[in-house]
Amino acid sequence: MAMKKVEFQQATLQGELVVPGDKSISHRAVMLGSIAEGKTEISGFLDGEDCLQTVDIFQKLGVVVTREGTNVTVESPGMNGWQTPTEELYAGNSGTTARLMLGILAGSRVTSVLTGDQYLSKRPMNRVALPLASMGANIAGEEGSNLLPLTITGGSLVAIDYDMPIASAQVKSAILFAGLNAEGTTSVTEQTVSRDHTERMLEQFGASIQREGNTVRVEGGQSLRGTTVKVPGDISSAAFFMVAAAMTKGSAVSFKDVGLNPTRTGILDVLQAMGANIQITEQSDSIGEPFGTVHVSHSTLRGTEIGGELIPRLIDELPIIALLATQAEGTTVIKNAEELRVKETDRIAAVTAELKKMGAQVEETEDGMIIHGPTALTGASLASYGDHRLGMMAGIASLITTGPVTIDDASCINISYPRFFDDLEKLAVPAITNG
Ligand code: S3P
Repeated sequence: MAMKKVEFQQATLQGELVVPGDKSISHRAVMLGSIAEGKTEISGFLDGEDCLQTVDIFQKLGVVVTREGTNVTVESPGMNGWQTPTEELYAGNSGTTARLMLGILAGSRVTSVLTGDQYLSKRPMNRVALPLASMGANIAGEEGSNLLPLTITGGSLVAIDYDMPIASAQVKSAILFAGLNAEGTTSVTEQTVSRDHTERMLEQFGASIQREGNTVRVEGGQSLRGTTVKVPGDISSAAFFMVAAAMTKGSAVSFKDVGLNPTRTGILDVLQAMGANIQITEQSDSIGEPFGTVHVSHSTLRGTEIGGELIPRLIDELPIIALLATQAEGTTVIKNAEELRVKETDRIAAVTAELKKMGAQVEETEDGMIIHGPTALTGASLASYGDHRLGMMAGIASLITTGPVTIDDASCINISYPRFFDDLEKLAVPAITNG
């Protein structure tokens, strides 16, 4: 474990940033490129560990995936031409890889074993495996189908109409992928809308889907064609520096070509509600996903309430939003966010514990947190829990603490943002030290 000391106290953030490619879109581009027949060319791919696990899995299935930096080419015979892998398919820390692969592999012609790291092996898979089982999928592990490792014996599937009990794009996507190979028309209905990258990209690959209200329908037996995918910057990665710019005096940062899919922009709504200065320019829709340039600068902040339909639109941003709330005047309430308990770690418990170590006034609730501010934070020894977003929250906290922050294991940040500390150093004026 690499301990990291970060000292950026009282730095101001200034300049322009191009954040790495969107994690959700990068995964889906490789997945759909491998399901499709022919060649898919992806640019702006996120070369973080999670997405590289997805690449590795398809290489083990016999798909030719070549990568030069952030350009990836996928050449596939189509999923009926995949080979039975000779090794286990390792998803690492990536919940998206594991859940979406279950949906894909269930309707394939191969038998495979899906595994993950110590954290992913504790995360629930039944949310995907049970609806897939009702489509006829054969997914089995030592204790049912809830925990990795799982053996998936691909076979024929039948369509279902599925009412989603939780807002999860991973569940929705897994069922839609399985539906591509099922007999009949599969439908998924959400109570609260989650990110729709799968729906958008299915269309880009030539699939016909119907979207009506909160329901998506896909007919089985369609074949997909390879295509070109341009991945916008990940707003979930940008969020760390957006929060940093909003809460540090004198800061102003522009985020170029960042994804602005409305199912992902809850962070902008919250920043605005808290009083941050935000402007959006150069908006475009030319790549199948909206994107643009977001300008964020410092101002005084006030507490807000975050819950309901907003939650899936900012689910991954809640750790950094909690840090932001410690700097806002008044109380911030985060509720209806119980999904945070089954992320890379229990993010409600972990964020509460780490913020408290720096002197924040924060209470843990069953489904969220209550944060009182503003509070001056002090440097502390923080734990990342092997969770990239906790590691980055600690890195950003070092901008506002008196005294340095140390992170017990910062290597997990490579999961979604390998150049995080380089970008922090680039924007920080004056960049003090970084050991
Ligand atoms: C993701 C969906 C979300 C999110 C995760 C990525 C995706 O998870 O937290 O980081 O790419 O579909 P859930 O679908 O479990 O909410």
